[in-house]
Amino acid sequence: MYFGVDYHPEQWVYPYAGTPEKPEAAWERDVEMMAAAGINVVRMGEFTWGLCEPQEEKYNFGWLRRVMDLLGKSGIKVVLATPTAAPPIWLAKKHPQILPVDEHGLVKHEGTRRAVCLNSDVFWDYSKRIVTAMAKELGKHPHLIAWQIDNGLGGNYTEAAFNEETRREWHFWLEAKYETVERMNDLMGLRHWGQIVSSWKEVPMPMTAPAVHNPALVLDWCRFCSDTIVQFVKMQAELLRELTPQCPVTTNLRPLLHRFDHFDLAEVIDFVSIESTAALKARSSELACEIDMLRCLKKTGIRTPDGDTGFWVMEQKAGNVTWQDVNSLVRPGVLRMFTYQLVSRGATAILFFRWRQPRFGTEKFHGAVVPHSIRSDGRVFKEVAQLGDEMKLLAPALKGTHVQPEACILYSHDNEWTLQQPMQPNKFFNLREHIQLFYNALHDRNISVDFARPAEDLSRYKLVFAPSLHLLSGGEADRLKLYVQNGGTLVGTFNTGLVDEHNMAPDTGYPHDLTDLFGLEVLEFDQLPPGEENHLTFKGAFPTTHLHSAKLWCDLIEPKDCQILATYAKDFYAGRPAMTMNTFGLGKAIYIGTMSHQHFYNDLVTWLRQLCNLHPLLKVPDNVEVSLRQKDDSKIYFLLNHQSSPLRIQFYKPMHEFLTGNTLAGNYDLPPHGVLVLDEQAAAKT
Ligand code: GAL
Repeated sequence: MYFGVDYHPEQWVYPYAGTPEKPEAAWERDVEMMAAAGINVVRMGEFTWGLCEPQEEKYNFGWLRRVMDLLGKSGIKVVLATPTAAPPIWLAKKHPQILPVDEHGLVKHEGTRRAVCLNSDVFWDYSKRIVTAMAKELGKHPHLIAWQIDNGLGGNYTEAAFNEETRREWHFWLEAKYETVERMNDLMGLRHWGQIVSSWKEVPMPMTAPAVHNPALVLDWCRFCSDTIVQFVKMQAELLRELTPQCPVTTNLRPLLHRFDHFDLAEVIDFVSIESTAALKARSSELACEIDMLRCLKKTGIRTPDGDTGFWVMEQKAGNVTWQDVNSLVRPGVLRMFTYQLVSRGATAILFFRWRQPRFGTEKFHGAVVPHSIRSDGRVFKEVAQLGDEMKLLAPALKGTHVQPEACILYSHDNEWTLQQPMQPNKFFNLREHIQLFYNALHDRNISVDFARPAEDLSRYKLVFAPSLHLLSGGEADRLKLYVQNGGTLVGTFNTGLVDEHNMAPDTGYPHDLTDLFGLEVLEFDQLPPGEENHLTFKGAFPTTHLHSAKLWCDLIEPKDCQILATYAKDFYAGRPAMTMNTFGLGKAIYIGTMSHQHFYNDLVTWLRQLCNLHPLLKVPDNVEVSLRQKDDSKIYFLLNHQSSPLRIQFYKPMHEFLTGNTLAGNYDLPPHGVLVLDEQAAAKT
């Protein structure tokens, strides 16, 4: 298992460290301390183009080679990042057309990272050159184990650039998709406001305009910008695979924040790496949700440096960040606990961002493993070194284990991009919040979850949730039907199937292509402002612990073949169905026509657990986070206490604890931010 840091050796040379005689001397102490903390890998190079090519075609990779040699001597491997995230100033000066133009037509200038339009041919050419030069110079280094392509793609709001070169590519993209201008006019519905065009060249980019752009055009624009990013990564991946076939390639992703299709991107890299935003979320389940989403971006065809098939955490924040209004310290023990949260959900490598706080630059007060005044008895260093020891201990048992959920939540970027557009039925609806309601209920009941695109093969799951698939293509609808037909249980909701893949509403009833699956038709949908509520009246065996609200959105459902599970309590649709269940083939399709409070989703999951024969991973109090990694018949449980007070757990059968070697039975008090790593197999043997 790899355990490491993001290292910036370029910032630790004379005059910032070392001496005029030995300008790189600080590297030696860094490497010594890294080895003492159990570090066996570093990622570096991500913003070093200006240093590796200070003038056009005057390369200087010698310093990187020297650091790699030094690291290698202490058994530390290297992931090199291609430096295209930060084009050098000379390039922008020589070819100013590479600078990105914003939606108001203003140029964003050079002098920072990401100052580039990814549709620029000139930039592609220069990128190919620097990547090739780097791979030729360092690609055969014995300690290089992987490449990270670029860094933080789409970050700093750079998913789109409205340059003239972009316009040209956009038109090519549209032509490839629609073939004829007439077809595009028709499928985008450009006759609205008479915005039809008679040639590709006339199609606008959605720049700032007096009113809202055509939603189908905006959706295509998001797809086009996403394809641009994916193609840029693919171009680098292909180059690197040709020059250094032994090194897998990856790139670091943030939790679905940036606007590109992360599933598409995962297809062109060998393994997924993520950044964690630990300590920034109020609920542990919000972080867990993001980790699960990212783990699921690539489910097959994974190639990592050590042959394991999990995901890497390329930037686990080692402490406070610098981009919040108030950048609090991460409390003692919390960094360790969040690291276990990542490992418990499938991470097979952890690298802390960053090794040392830099003395200059925008991130000089960013948390790090080592502070400005380097010392090996620092609080964070000791916590990381403890983790280093623990990971060494756990690595053999974790090797080859996976998270294997029986439940799944569907998510698609096309859908999210459609919902992010203005002029929605209810601007207070938020997809992530809706997903999180289901996720929280599953998380708190110890049922692990995967994420998948609606068109994936879902047959491995007993239970699938499809929250608000507002945009649903015909192919996706067919997949969902096939899943239920073959015995699966699907939970669909309001705001589903309101448009097809062209962002066009169906004339055959909502939800588009799924009225037979759910055995109903949604005739209208009412919108409630925040604070206004209807209520649900339940029929039959649905267990209710509270009076459940109906909020934001109320579908007016005409039942056909379905069974009615709940109705609305008031308004002109009082007594009409709000929640239904339909038998379809061998499976069941449940429909929830409204949004409710968290208690409803908790009750729903309790009910579904029985209906689908799903078992919680372990019987522990709701506020203990439990995850399971397994392989064949070996099962490793992780128990985390996210609270700052102890939590009492009762073990009904003895469990072996990996970190201490103890056997736990009966009552056990899990300390604040405490972690247990348990093994049933070894316990059975004891
Ligand atoms: C990441 C980025 C790093 C650093 C970090 C700060 O998104 O990749 O370079 O800026 O944020 O938290």
